[in-house]
Formats: sequence, C-alpha cells, structure tokens
Amino acid sequence: MALYGVLGDIHGNVEALEAVLAALDQRGVRRLLCVGDVVGYNADPDACIALLRARATQVIAGNHDLIGTRRLGFERCSNKARYSLQRTRQRLSQASGAWLRSLPSSLLVEGRLALVHGGVRDVQLYMTTPSHIRRNAELLREDFPTARVCFFGHSHEQRLYEVSGDEVEALPVGACRLAAERLYFINAGSVDAQRKREHRLAEFALFDSDAWTVEFHSVRYDAAATEAKAAVGGYRIVPFIDWLYTMRRRLSPT
Ligand SMILES: [Fe+2]
Ligand SMILES: [Fe+2]
Repeated sequence: MALYGVLGDIHGNVEALEAVLAALDQRGVRRLLCVGDVVGYNADPDACIALLRARATQVIAGNHDLIGTRRLGFERCSNKARYSLQRTRQRLSQASGAWLRSLPSSLLVEGRLALVHGGVRDVQLYMTTPSHIRRNAELLREDFPTARVCFFGHSHEQRLYEVSGDEVEALPVGACRLAAERLYFINAGSVDAQRKREHRLAEFALFDSDAWTVEFHSVRYDAAATEAKAAVGGYRIVPFIDWLYTMRRRLSPT
C-alpha cells in the first residue's frame, strides 16, 4: 500500500513530464503508475522513456506506443496523430523501441488497482460517457474481478466515475475519499497539453491506497519550447499534407 503518482498520455512531451515529476518529488511521491501513450505528437520520446525508466515506473502500452513500434496500424488515427507517429517511428531509438514493445497491455497493482489505456478490452476506445463506463465496468468485473479502481487514459480529460451496480455517477474532480464498497474509474488527465484548447497545464493525480483517496492536479510547463521543438523536428502536419491524407482516406477508406 502506498502513495502513487498516476499519469499518462505523455506523448513525448519532456517539458510537461519534468514538471509533473518535479511536483511529485515535492510531495515525496516515489511510486509512479502510467496508463500509456508515452510517445507520439511531440519531439522527445526517448527522453520521456528514460525518465520513466529511471523511476521504475509501472507502465502499460497505449495505442501510440503500439503504433510507434509498428504493432498497430494508422486506421483509427487522426491525420495529426498519423503524421507525428510516422516521425516517431523514424526517430525512436532501438532501446526505446525495445522497451515500448515490452510493455503489457494492462496491469493489476496490489491486486485491486487496474491500469488500462482506452477501454478494458479496446486500447483505442474513448471512455467519455457513463454508458462507456457501465459497459467497461462489466468487462472489468470479468477480466479483473478483484479490481476496485480502474485507472484509464486516452481521452486526455481528468475524470472520476463512481460505479454502484448499474449506476454510474460522474463526480467532480478535486480531492475525494473513495467508498470502500464502490468501483471507480479514474482518468488522471494528460501530461501532454499541446492539443488542449482550454489550457496548457500538465495533469496528473495522486492516489493513496492506504487512505483510499484521489487528488487531481495540474502544473505549468514550458509549452512554447515543446511546440518549437515539435515544429522543427517535423512532428506537426502542414495543411497541404493534412488535405492529402483526407483525400487518400476518402479514395481508399480502410
Ligand atoms: Fe493519448
Ligand atoms: Fe491513446
């Protein structure tokens, strides 16, 4: 039992990851859980992987980690994601690629904390509604019968859902003590905020498995530096290529 830093959707953004790790260091948090999408979109996949490995983070694979290492295709990607992941495939070091390929698709920590990336059985599912949570709570009970909390990512929004039988309630994100007899789905948000419209803050959560509490946090980082590196490194799609990708999809839908 421990205090965990929960994070995900880092997407090669080393400035945001460093800011989150500094905030966790300030609080004395030593154990990290990561729900995947370590790479994609931004220019520092190797540096992000090195930071996670140095802290012995427990990490699962997200869809970007699978696509970046050629274990999943581009079929369900946006044009932006597809373009940047092609760059990731070119730039990722051999050691980073091998590490990403070694990641499990899910984890069970302490026998009661499940980690998945998208849905329980679909790495590319966006769980954004109570009905998604209701369906995935059924799958969680089948696949991880001892799990009381399911940490997930992929949708890049901080969320806390409480499940009791077939009832699903979205609770406000903040600081919350969880009920022992309920099931919870928790999205700690995204470390990478480059694609967010509302803010450029790196998000994470603290989870205390002794006190059974969760806290949601966000911190500032140097988003301009991240964006400049991504542009120079060829991770940002230009409008003409965006149009070409769209045309190609229309002519030969997959
Ligand atoms: Fe993501
Ligand atoms: Fe994802």
